[in-house]
Order: sequence, then C-alpha cells, then structure tokens
Amino acid sequence: MLAVKDVLSSLEQDNSNLIKALQLIQEQEGYISNEAIKEIANYFNVSPVDVEGVVTFYTQFKRIKPGEHTICVCDGTACHIKGSPLVKNWIEEELGIKEGETDKDGFFSLEVVACLGCCSLAPVVSIDGKVYGNLDRKKLLKIIKQYRNGGAK
Ligand code: FES
Repeated sequence: MLAVKDVLSSLEQDNSNLIKALQLIQEQEGYISNEAIKEIANYFNVSPVDVEGVVTFYTQFKRIKPGEHTICVCDGTACHIKGSPLVKNWIEEELGIKEGETDKDGFFSLEVVACLGCCSLAPVVSIDGKVYGNLDRKKLLKIIKQYRNGGAK
C-alpha cells in the first residue's frame, strides 16, 4: 500500500489535482485522515481548512476510518415503506453509533444508501456488499451476531 506522500508525489503539484489526490488517498486508506489533510494542504500549498472544505463538499469522501465491516442500510423507496428507518434504529442501538460512524472496536461502520437493487427483499441491508433482506429485528441482530462471531464472512 502506498503512503499518502507516495500518492501525492505521483501527481503534479497543481491545484486541479486536489480532488484526484483525495480520491486516490481514499482508495488507499478507505478515508481521509487528519494527517492526509495536512499533507495534501502542504503539497498543494493551500490551507488545511481549504482541503477540509473540499472534503466536506463532496459526499464521496469519508472522514471517519471505516470499520472492518460496513453495514449499508437501504433507504430507497421500497425499503423505506417497509421500515428502513426502524432497521437503522435497531443497528444504531445495537452498535451504539449513528449513521456515518464506526463503532468503538473499529468492527462495524454504518451507512445509509439509496436502492440496492433488490427491492422485492425489502427491507434490505448489505454488509460488505452481501445483501440481507426481509429483515426484522430478530433476523438483523442474528446476522450482526454472526459477524461478531466470525461466522458470516
Ligand atoms: S429500495 Fe431497497 S433495495 Fe430497492
């Protein structure tokens, strides 16, 4: 894996490459760390606040280190009608985190996404891209438990 400085040195020191730099670093590290913000600011000779502004503006960039597993709650129309807000609440309660956060063990992250393309199974979540549908609270907690026990990878 390339370090932030290696990623940066592969790009010309032109401000038009700032977003490209953020994309490459996120690909490498999974998120944009405080350290990366500082290094990018130095490299492009802009203030860290300016870099932070770009990161905040584009929703594709993550500022929180992702957990080992990412749970995506679908909040598309079909899932919403079938109770995705409840599904999200159950996960938040169980993990002690909110949308966009990672739990204290760095094991799970929680995201809310648009339609995952399997509406007939609503409500749906995906974990690391694997889809789980027709969820109720009991089924959801069982799946989370399986991951915690290492049996659902
Ligand atoms: S709305 Fe959730 S899978 Fe389509």
